[in-house]
Amino acid sequence: MSDALSTNARDLAEEAGAALLAAQTESDLAQAKARFLGRSGSITLLLREIPTLDPDTRRTAGQAINEAKKAVEALFTARRQAIKDASLAVGSGHPIDVTLDARQPWRGHLHPVTRAWREITDIFSSMGYTIEEGPEVETDWHCFEALNIPQGHPAREMQDTFYISDFRPGATVDAMADGVVLRTHTSPVQVRTMLRSEPPIRMICPGTVYRRDSDLTHTPMFHQVEGLVVDESITMADLKGTLAEFARAYFGAATQIRFRPSYFPFTEPSTEVDVTCSGCSGSGCRICKGTGWLEVLGAGMVDPDVFAHQDPARYGSSRIQGFAFGMGIDRLAMLKYGIGDLRLLFENDIRMLEQF
Ligand code: DAH
Repeated sequence: MSDALSTNARDLAEEAGAALLAAQTESDLAQAKARFLGRSGSITLLLREIPTLDPDTRRTAGQAINEAKKAVEALFTARRQAIKDASLAVGSGHPIDVTLDARQPWRGHLHPVTRAWREITDIFSSMGYTIEEGPEVETDWHCFEALNIPQGHPAREMQDTFYISDFRPGATVDAMADGVVLRTHTSPVQVRTMLRSEPPIRMICPGTVYRRDSDLTHTPMFHQVEGLVVDESITMADLKGTLAEFARAYFGAATQIRFRPSYFPFTEPSTEVDVTCSGCSGSGCRICKGTGWLEVLGAGMVDPDVFAHQDPARYGSSRIQGFAFGMGIDRLAMLKYGIGDLRLLFENDIRMLEQF
């Protein structure tokens, strides 16, 4: 009995093998498989008999039948792949279904910070500003000294600096003495722009900056835009008009701004600038913590001590005045796109990025 069953199983496996090999299409193949392994396929029927066998024969016959099943399944899988491959191969003679939907090309998304960056630069470009750049690895002099933040100045502590001690092999003693840092703000680009050009200046500098700081609202790398306007008779009114225009262009036509007195070493007087909350238009909500206002930037009139670090022939006249401002691009992106956690911007989670 057991021998008969085992032989039967092997015969069926062989028969199935021949049928699978003869199949030329996927549906032929599926049919062939069903004949042996379907609900009432011949190998399936044998499998059902196993529990009814007496224990002595059950082992050997069971083994033979299961092996037959496995062999047929393996052959089926291999044969299906072969048929698929053949139908893809050029000149296989198999028709190509031109009515199938085309695969959609995968489209990338601009990162919200990139979008904000571009929007901000577009707004200032349209007002006639040039876009300037400066190095991210910066000298202490450009980053601090020339901006009226001398050694030991408490403002240095506000900006937890990454110091680069081994800037480059063979760095001159002077460069090392100068100190080399990762720039903590984009303000050194003011200094560099004035060093290479004369008034009138009307520039912005978007860029990456670094601070040793990391929590809910701070990341060690973030982005700022610096602005600088220098000309004869530039006043605080020019600053206010410019920033009001920017706020309306970026946050919407009904946006208002207000100045609060503040302190920055490189501006005098200095101000912090708030805009009416984009979430509630000023009536108070969660985003503005009920105040109706959002703090978005720092600004002021260029401190004469900053001009004093420049060429006196170009910047020494008392008629030369300027204003400057600095703002966080990431913060502006978060406010515009309703992103609650700064860190989300830099985690590269595709589920978050796909929303933009
Ligand atoms: N540099 C400042 C910072 O990173 C931002 C800033 C404030 C820039 C006021 C300015 C300014 O040009 O006038 O904290």
